[in-house]
Amino acid sequence: MKEMAGTSGGRDTTSATGTTVTYAWRGEFDSAAVEALHAEGFDHKPLAYDWFGQVTRHSLGWVCAYREARLIGFVNVAWDGAAHAFILDTVVSADERGHGVGARLVALARQHARDAGCEWLHVDFEPELRRFYFDSCGFTAADAGVIRLVPGT
Ligand SMILES: CC(C)(COP(=O)(O)OP(=O)(O)OC[C@H]1O[C@@H](n2cnc3c(N)ncnc32)[C@H](O)[C@@H]1OP(=O)(O)O)[C@@H](O)C(=O)NCCC(=O)NCCS
Repeated sequence: MKEMAGTSGGRDTTSATGTTVTYAWRGEFDSAAVEALHAEGFDHKPLAYDWFGQVTRHSLGWVCAYREARLIGFVNVAWDGAAHAFILDTVVSADERGHGVGARLVALARQHARDAGCEWLHVDFEPELRRFYFDSCGFTAADAGVIRLVPGT
């Protein structure tokens, strides 16, 4: 069953490929559907993960992409409660990639983060996604750092 977000936000519809994909900021989704997308996109077995609880408690928002009733894309927009937002978990169903859905998800994340008063949108990614984030989504390169916090590393 789909869960209702606290704020449904605006909808945006495109038909660039001849079929309609609908986008929603803080849209409705089923945690299992996000987990299925995530498992496929990041190559792991699906778990019983509470995506809805996570993003409604901790994120500025998220963007969903649907074809009809099916969730085909998702991006999580985390934030610091002030000027910085961070996109995480950008994912599009494998059979829907290459038609602009990913770039549109990120564009809407950018628009809504700006509308919420954020001044910076951050992302990190593997080198093969430079073209996607730099050329298609408008990010510029910046130094960044990361430390793995898993015990034993
Ligand atoms: C990355 C991802 C979200 C892109 O979604 P998408 O809907 O295919 O992206 P778009 O169609 O908007 O692509 C826009 C551009 O980026 C390029 N691009 C997208 N994914 C790419 C990839 N994996 N490698 C190289 N280039 C890629 C496309 O070629 C396209 O360029 P073009 O318009 O000049 O042809 C999707 O490939 C995905 O879900 N991947 C698995 C999960 C993942 O790695 N997410 C990123 C986490 S940081």
